[in-house]
Amino acid sequence: MNFQRASIVALILVAGLLTGCRAHVAAPSATNATSDIATEYDLVYAITHARMSTAPSPFLVASVRGEHRGQTALDVGAGSGRNTFYLARHGYQVTAVDLSRIGLDLIRAQAEAEHLPIATVNQDINAFPFGKDQWNLIVLIDFPFAYRGLLPKIAAGVKPGGEVVIQAVSVAQPGLESPDKMLHYTFMDRRDLDAPFAGFTVLHNSEDEEPTVWGVKAIMVRYSALKP
Ligand SMILES: C[S@@+](CC[C@H](N)C(=O)[O-])C[C@H]1O[C@@H](n2cnc3c(N)ncnc32)[C@H](O)[C@@H]1O
Repeated sequence: MNFQRASIVALILVAGLLTGCRAHVAAPSATNATSDIATEYDLVYAITHARMSTAPSPFLVASVRGEHRGQTALDVGAGSGRNTFYLARHGYQVTAVDLSRIGLDLIRAQAEAEHLPIATVNQDINAFPFGKDQWNLIVLIDFPFAYRGLLPKIAAGVKPGGEVVIQAVSVAQPGLESPDKMLHYTFMDRRDLDAPFAGFTVLHNSEDEEPTVWGVKAIMVRYSALKP
């Protein structure tokens, strides 16, 4: 992306974010290039981070309580780290994976300031090695991108007794677009969770209208489960 385009996108993004990312009629779905996602979120975090809420997802807070010192957590698409920090402050050694270098820079700076046990990985999550029975907790929160291929990897990667926490805008929600319409969101069909997490003990499985990180309400899938 050249500087002129980046400036225009930045202006549109700021306008969109400041006006609360109004909902529009959905564009036809398309595949996002990872470079476009990285550019867009770099701009979001560079320009709006100071005004963005750093509060963790309320669903994550309700799902993960207590001290987890010595346990490992993977934050998929961690962004600028609002959920990563919540987990690290509760004792988890967190690995935060994201395409946005700027988001991860913000995470590293705060982690150093607070001496929190956080590792950052600037990588396409589709190429990330989740491993097998490796993580005490894997979270996928507000990741409006291709997610189906990640679910079996999340199921395999979490340890027996470990937990998965997933939150995403539902396919039942009509028409939320990225502020500059550059990215095409992929929303979640909660039936997609059944096969990958078959045999897990489901702790929570809901689809209700909730406030979102975008500043508007939307129908959200919320799911958490324990691996046997
Ligand atoms: C809406 S933000 C949510 C960030 C964070 N989970 C939160 O709840 O605040 C989505 C994040 O997913 C990241 N992302 C999108 N596609 C990705 C991919 N293929 N690999 C890694 N990160 C990705 C974006 O860069 C962005 O930071």
